[in-house]
Amino acid sequence: MYRNEINVERVSHRFATGLLAVEDMSLRVAPGEFVVIVGPSGCGKTTILNLIAGLIARQSGKVTIGEAVPRAGRQDIAYMFAQDALLPWRRVIDNVLFGVEIHTGTRKPKPGVLEQAHGLLAMVGLAGFETAYPRQLSHGMRQRVALARTFLMPSPILLMDEPFGALDAHTKLALEQGLLRLWESNKRTVLFITHDLAEAIVLADRILVCTTRPGRIKSEIAVDLPRPRSISALQNDPRYHDYYQRIWGDLAAEMAI
Ligand SMILES: Nc1ncnc2c1ncn2[C@@H]1O[C@H](COP(=O)(O)OP(=O)(O)OP(=O)(O)O)[C@@H](O)[C@H]1O
Ligand SMILES: [Mg+2]
Repeated sequence: MYRNEINVERVSHRFATGLLAVEDMSLRVAPGEFVVIVGPSGCGKTTILNLIAGLIARQSGKVTIGEAVPRAGRQDIAYMFAQDALLPWRRVIDNVLFGVEIHTGTRKPKPGVLEQAHGLLAMVGLAGFETAYPRQLSHGMRQRVALARTFLMPSPILLMDEPFGALDAHTKLALEQGLLRLWESNKRTVLFITHDLAEAIVLADRILVCTTRPGRIKSEIAVDLPRPRSISALQNDPRYHDYYQRIWGDLAAEMAI
C-alpha cells in the first residue's frame, strides 16, 4: 500500500453524549486523488476528517494512511479549516512559514522555502502583503494566507474542511481556481468537504455523497472532466450541469427535500 493513500473501513463513531455520528462508513482516497465529500449538515463529515487526522480516537473499524494508523500531529497531514486560524501577532509571511516550522521544529526555514512561500503568496494574489498583519486583511485574504500555508507544508495528504465556506462568491471562485492550479502542479492526496455542489464538481476527481446521520457513503460520482480545469469555462460545459443535477438529486433524496 502507498504511504499517501487514505483508507477508512467500516468506521462507526459514537460521541460521549450517546449520539451516533457515523455508522459503518467506508471510503478510500487513492494517492494523488482529489476526493470531495458532500452531505447533509451533521452527518459526520468533520468527524471522519478528525478521525483520519487522529484528532479523535477511533472506536470501531479501521482508518489507515498508507500502512500507518493516524495519530495527532503527524507530519504527512495538512489540515485546513473554514476559519483561517492565523496567528494574529505574526506577519503574513511568518504565518505562511508557521506550518513548516511546526514540522521541522525550527524557525529557520531550509534554503528555498522562503522563496517558495513568497511564490505561493504571489500565486494566491497576495504579493505585496507579506509584511501585513492578519488584522489588516479581509477574511478572504486571510483564507488565502491559510491556503498558502497549507501548500507550503510538504505533507502528501491534505484534509480540507469547508475551507472556502465563509467566503463571498467571487473570492471563492478565485480561491478554487488557485487551489486547482496548486494541486494540478503537485498532485497530493486531498479529501475536501463542502456544501457547495458547484465547488465539488470543479475540484473533484470523485464526489462522495453522505447519508443523513449516522453518516455513511450513499453514492459515489466520478467527475470525468478534463484537467487542467478552468472554472469559468466549465460553467458553459453541459457535462458540468449534468453532474450538478445528478449530485443534487442524490442529496435532495437524502434530505427529503
Ligand atoms: N464533540 C462532540 N460531542 C458530541 N456530539 C458531537 C461532537 N462533535 C460533533 N458531534 C455531533 O456529531 C454529529 C456530526 O458532527 P460533524 O461535525 O461531524 O457533522 P458535519 O457533517 O461536519 O456537519 P456540518 O456540515 O454542519 O459541518 C452532529 O450531530 C454533531 O452534533
Ligand atoms: Mg463539519
